[in-house]
Amino acid sequence: MLSPQHVWITGASSGIGAALVHAYVDKGWHVIATARGKEALEAVAKNSSKPDHVHLLTADLMDMDALPALVQSAWDTCGGIDLAIFNAGIAQWGTAVSSLQAVDDHVLTLNYRSPVACIKALLPKMQQVAHGRIAVVSSIAGLFGQGHLAAYSASKAALTVYMESLKEEVHMSPIRVHTVTPGVIRTGIMSRGLNADGELMRNRDPSGRSGILPAVAASKIQRLCNSRRFHLIIASPAERLGLFLHHCCPRLFYFLLRRKS
Ligand SMILES: NC(=O)c1ccc[n+]([C@@H]2O[C@H](COP(=O)([O-])OP(=O)(O)OC[C@H]3O[C@@H](n4cnc5c(N)ncnc54)[C@H](OP(=O)(O)O)[C@@H]3O)[C@@H](O)[C@H]2O)c1
Repeated sequence: MLSPQHVWITGASSGIGAALVHAYVDKGWHVIATARGKEALEAVAKNSSKPDHVHLLTADLMDMDALPALVQSAWDTCGGIDLAIFNAGIAQWGTAVSSLQAVDDHVLTLNYRSPVACIKALLPKMQQVAHGRIAVVSSIAGLFGQGHLAAYSASKAALTVYMESLKEEVHMSPIRVHTVTPGVIRTGIMSRGLNADGELMRNRDPSGRSGILPAVAASKIQRLCNSRRFHLIIASPAERLGLFLHHCCPRLFYFLLRRKS
């Protein structure tokens, strides 16, 4: 019998992360599930097909000084990590100038600096055992700029390019890295995001009502992390057309985007 495999998933208490927990548990994996909300994590574990395969590791990923110790705890939980999926993230909505600097700092820290710090601590461990994969969840918002999303788009663009650089550095090694670039996924991310004043956007929830189902996204992410492929875009046909237009005909793309918003 093959030994069980271990995946560390951050942002595991809701949305895409919770769907990933369920998808990996269904495949017989052990999951180390990280987020701040203990009760929400417990509910995700309880609703999985094998609750005893979910190991809770609560943490605030904004606490940069604590991240090396967190990575060590995640590694020690099951005696190694076969796959880490850095999925935790936060949205923001507000104009580039009116958004408080603290909002930009929060978004950049959680979406970019935190996964990078975790990777710096985790990759050497994987290299030592010559085994492991690391995936990040970026966003198509990181592939082009748009109004009211400057900090979010910048954080995801930075993460995407960082991972592309990392891919070049590890391509001769047994370690594989992956970047997931989702379009709109049906989660409550916008209601948990920050407005320009740093308050929760409780009443804005467009992605909660439309978009690709988190379970569908999770299954595509699983397939990516089982392949040699580096990058996967998970998007609707309209979003794919938008990316094509942005590349080939940016003026038309922004004309249409302005009309839509
Ligand atoms: N939904 C979309 O349309 C969409 C599109 C493109 C990319 N994405 C990306 O997909 C990822 C998952 O988003 P989602 O849609 O599933 O959103 P979500 O349901 O709001 O999930 C965000 C997760 O991040 C965790 N988190 C937030 N702040 C944290 C902190 N300081 N420390 C530790 N964990 C923290 C949350 O848990 P706690 O609050 O319990 O800590 C939660 O588990 C994000 O990186 C997002 O940018 C989403």
